[in-house]
Amino acid sequence: MSPTDTVRVQTHDEIDRVNPNVHGHFAEHLGRCIYGGIWVSDDDQVQTTDGMREDTLELLSDLGLNQLRWPGGCFADDYHWRDGIGPREDRPRRPNDFWAQGQEETYEESNEFGTEEFLRLCRHVDAEPFLAANLGSGSPEEARRWVEYCNNEGDTALTRERAENGSPEPHDVTYWGVGNENWGCGGRFDPETYANEFRRFAHFMKLAGAEETVACGHINEDWNRRFFAELTEPDLVDHLSVHRYYGRFGPDCGSATEFDREEYYRFFAHSLQVGTDIDDAIATIDTYASTDDIGIAVDEWGAWHPEAESENGLEQENSVRDAVAAAGVMDDFNHRADAIEMANLAQAVNVLQCVVQTDEEAAWPTPTYQVFDLYQPHAGATALRTVVDTEEKETDIGDLPLVSASATVGEDATYVTVSNRHRTDERMVRVTLDGEVRDTSGQVLFSDHDPSDYSARDNADEFTADDAEIAIEDGSLVVDLPPCSVAGVSIEST
Ligand code: AHR
Repeated sequence: MSPTDTVRVQTHDEIDRVNPNVHGHFAEHLGRCIYGGIWVSDDDQVQTTDGMREDTLELLSDLGLNQLRWPGGCFADDYHWRDGIGPREDRPRRPNDFWAQGQEETYEESNEFGTEEFLRLCRHVDAEPFLAANLGSGSPEEARRWVEYCNNEGDTALTRERAENGSPEPHDVTYWGVGNENWGCGGRFDPETYANEFRRFAHFMKLAGAEETVACGHINEDWNRRFFAELTEPDLVDHLSVHRYYGRFGPDCGSATEFDREEYYRFFAHSLQVGTDIDDAIATIDTYASTDDIGIAVDEWGAWHPEAESENGLEQENSVRDAVAAAGVMDDFNHRADAIEMANLAQAVNVLQCVVQTDEEAAWPTPTYQVFDLYQPHAGATALRTVVDTEEKETDIGDLPLVSASATVGEDATYVTVSNRHRTDERMVRVTLDGEVRDTSGQVLFSDHDPSDYSARDNADEFTADDAEIAIEDGSLVVDLPPCSVAGVSIEST
């Protein structure tokens, strides 16, 4: 068989460094993400460190989360940080109003897991914390005090309180969200009102030591345009957020594990929307923000299938199709390394497209975990312009390239990730570099799996990577990609 597709890595055409925060994650007080998945009570059956399950911590720290966003999501604009500090027995129990919707039973927030616990989690898994402040139902005063509590180096009432809570040194939290989805669950604002609130919040939060702010954007371009037109002071915005879920809020793509041929390809085509959303947001910033110093934060993204509802804590299976689609999205991030500064897959544990699932006794990695692991060499490396010449599958929402790829150059080698989105056919992909390939090695994921296969406690080990079949031919390399699979190849060249 001769190669079906070509990936041309333009070794001399550097895009930018891939910010490691682009491989970030998100943990919300919702379903079993925090409670059960990370934080457990003393009588649980798993080993714990600082109240957190060690099995989850081990998986997350092996992966390297890079950045973790918390406490929401929609929960963020209903959260008052003071409820979650101090002696645990004194913390108030509150209704978790947003995620209580649709639940048959009452749904409460115990506040056992708060700021100190979250920051301890970040230290355990070596992640940069990214806190989302409450703009929707909070005040600038509350938000700026949270910044002071976390970051102030001096001797104030709040820094004394922090010391009493076990942290005499500042936590140095760099990233601060100013509300979440404020056009919807975060307060149903119009863009002008949000812009005026944002200005007040961001001004005082920055004064208190919030180095980098994230403003709430919208994939409806008009929101971003009207927000910047009203704001007039773009220096207060360091990042503009983009949220994109695919699978549920759009064309029918089946469920996580049951889909026909049309739904299979439509799902991938829908995932391409993440790249389009980033491009739209960049274009709006360029036109309306009067500064090019604003980066994109895709601070929620991933597969959301129809079966994930608030009633079941947004849980769904995590299939090979989901994981291969995530690989394509991460390639799209690499192609836009000069604009995207952070991204957070939703969500880290048990919820939506999680990387770790748990039950009462064990934690295990999902297929998406394996993709993040395979993509690790890209984080912090320099993205290279990469041109993919492949066949396209026609779908009713647009054409889908059957092969996705991206490349970065690190200290020792060029690293190329390439995935085959064909449902049933193998593809043989030629990868060329400006120089000649001297040596190469690589791994491939999901060779022995169907797209609908998903991980569970007793089969999760079967989703780890195998050695890829790679040949060097005429100075380039050729890699065999089974249907619905993804490979990571390290290349030394002249
Ligand atoms: O991740 C689940 C929810 O999706 C988040 O709380 C919200 O921001 C988004 O709509």
